[in-house]
Amino acid sequence: MIIQGLNLIIKGLERKDLHDRHQWLNDPEITKYFTNLASIPLSETDLFNWYESISNKKSQELHFSIFTGDLKHIGGAQLKAIDWKNRNAELGLFIGDKSEWGKGYGTEITGILIHYGFHELNLHRLWLRVDAENLAAVKCYQKSGMTREGIFRDEVFRENAYHHSIIMSILRDEYRQNQQA
Ligand SMILES: CC(C)(COP(=O)(O)OP(=O)(O)OC[C@H]1O[C@@H](n2cnc3c(N)ncnc32)[C@H](O)[C@@H]1OP(=O)(O)O)[C@@H](O)C(=O)NCCC(=O)NCCS
Repeated sequence: MIIQGLNLIIKGLERKDLHDRHQWLNDPEITKYFTNLASIPLSETDLFNWYESISNKKSQELHFSIFTGDLKHIGGAQLKAIDWKNRNAELGLFIGDKSEWGKGYGTEITGILIHYGFHELNLHRLWLRVDAENLAAVKCYQKSGMTREGIFRDEVFRENAYHHSIIMSILRDEYRQNQQA
């Protein structure tokens, strides 16, 4: 399934996307605010093995690649920890091509994932965990209608210090109301 947004196209992650992903996930500027495993070197083999492992887990996690309208690969996104009983999932994204930061794409991808989660997967709640100092990401999520739910104190260790992370979420009804407003 290919999801067409206003400016961006989102497709299922394919093996051919892994080379770019390998470069991006080893760039500390990109992974600085990742809340897990950001400091662990990732080989291309690690990434291929991971790719094989997720193909059996489509009921629990969906991984996407993000492209601009002219099909330039710029990043990745996912819905994971999909809980079909309670109808919730954890949302995540990154723009790996740094020349594409600040163009509104992070906000657009968040909106596309939320729409897909509620309209296609029939989920009830979408949530995420974000480093409290990742102001661009927090803003993307707020602009997409997500609400700050709480704080996990000192949850992330980076740059020789502990930092807080924030849990944010959006419920299906809130999304509907925002759409009607
Ligand atoms: C975080 C990220 C997704 C944001 O994407 P983006 O396309 O650059 O964001 P947008 O252009 O949609 O901008 C979102 C808002 O943040 C603001 N912003 C951007 N950088 C900022 C910064 N350093 N401090 C404060 N606000 C910032 C923008 O001005 C914009 O607000 P505005 O529309 O009111 O002007 C992107 O920078 C990224 O992928 N970073 C690396 C990976 C990452 O941190 N992923 C999130 C993990 S939870």
